[in-house]
Amino acid sequence: MIILGIETSCDETSAAVLKANKKGGEIKLLSNVIATSLSLHAKTGGIIPEIAAREQVKFIIPVIEESIKVLKNPKSEIDAIAVTVGPGLIGSLLVGVETARTISFVWDKPIIPVNHLFGHIYANFIGEDNIQFPAIALIISGGHTDLVLMKNQSNIKWLGGTRDDAAGEAFDKTGRLLNLPYPAGPQIESLAMDVEKDIYHFPRPMIGSDDFDFSFSGLKAAVFREVQKLKTPSDNDIKNISFSLQEAIFSVLIKKTFKAVKGFDAKSIILGGGVSANQTLRKRFEEKIKSENLGTELFVPSKSLCTDNAAMIAAAAVFNPVETDWRKITANPELYFD
Ligand code: KG4
Ligand code: ZN
Repeated sequence: MIILGIETSCDETSAAVLKANKKGGEIKLLSNVIATSLSLHAKTGGIIPEIAAREQVKFIIPVIEESIKVLKNPKSEIDAIAVTVGPGLIGSLLVGVETARTISFVWDKPIIPVNHLFGHIYANFIGEDNIQFPAIALIISGGHTDLVLMKNQSNIKWLGGTRDDAAGEAFDKTGRLLNLPYPAGPQIESLAMDVEKDIYHFPRPMIGSDDFDFSFSGLKAAVFREVQKLKTPSDNDIKNISFSLQEAIFSVLIKKTFKAVKGFDAKSIILGGGVSANQTLRKRFEEKIKSENLGTELFVPSKSLCTDNAAMIAAAAVFNPVETDWRKITANPELYFD
């Protein structure tokens, strides 16, 4: 089957075409087009929902047109349209949802509604048929930090998540304190590269708690205190803070993920979401698997599939193909795990 994916939950506008066999697996990505309004948000230190949605209205049709160029006759070849229905910004979600409903009506195609968070998990299944179950998936993005158990490829059970800020949010909020452009994650990663010592040793919130929850909001306060003490942090101070921040966030993510891996005897660890693009984090996971001699396999999507994209939305639809009439599709900004 051929699926057209549409993703507009935050500031990206993306459309993708992928081919899969009906039972999942053998997922082949034919196109994945992404337009972003990120440069318009860099100066404001965060996304302005109104600006994001206005840009998406401009981008959505050209992006879809570009993505379906890989097909000779899109109208007859596409079997279904997968669209992100939530969670996300309401104005942004509506752009994708209303476009999908229109194409569905005009071309008479079913819509498969997709939870954006599931998309981050299924990004790992694109071109990858060898994920063994049970698996533990860690979703780490700008809006979410969730740990889930996958008993098989379509059975997802939420184990825990952040009680306040998401992991990516901790990167972005620290970035603002350090005057780094939004989103700060990639820059903090490269600033931390030269550092070897965890000088600041920021708190590791909830690292020993008897659950699978996280809390990252205290980190920005800890960083704020250090920045105040330094008054004008030097380039070197900023590098040291970046390294110590990463260490604090990664220590907790790794501790809780491996607690779940051992508790559920997981054969695979799956990462997804913008923060999983971080190479140091990947390395830390690999090292931990080795040092614990667990034999667990780590899966991380390619960099462009870690951050928001429509390919992952189409992939999620392959494993949860709830074909729905366009009249019943609505955006749900608060959508979460059941
Ligand atoms: O998944 P995503 O594109 O959007 C959401 O669904 O939120 O994730 C964006 C988040 C931002 O907070 C950004 O700072 C973070 O992912 N991020 C990173 C890296 N690349 C993006 N964080 C740490 N290291 C990176 N290399
Ligand atoms: Zn996302």
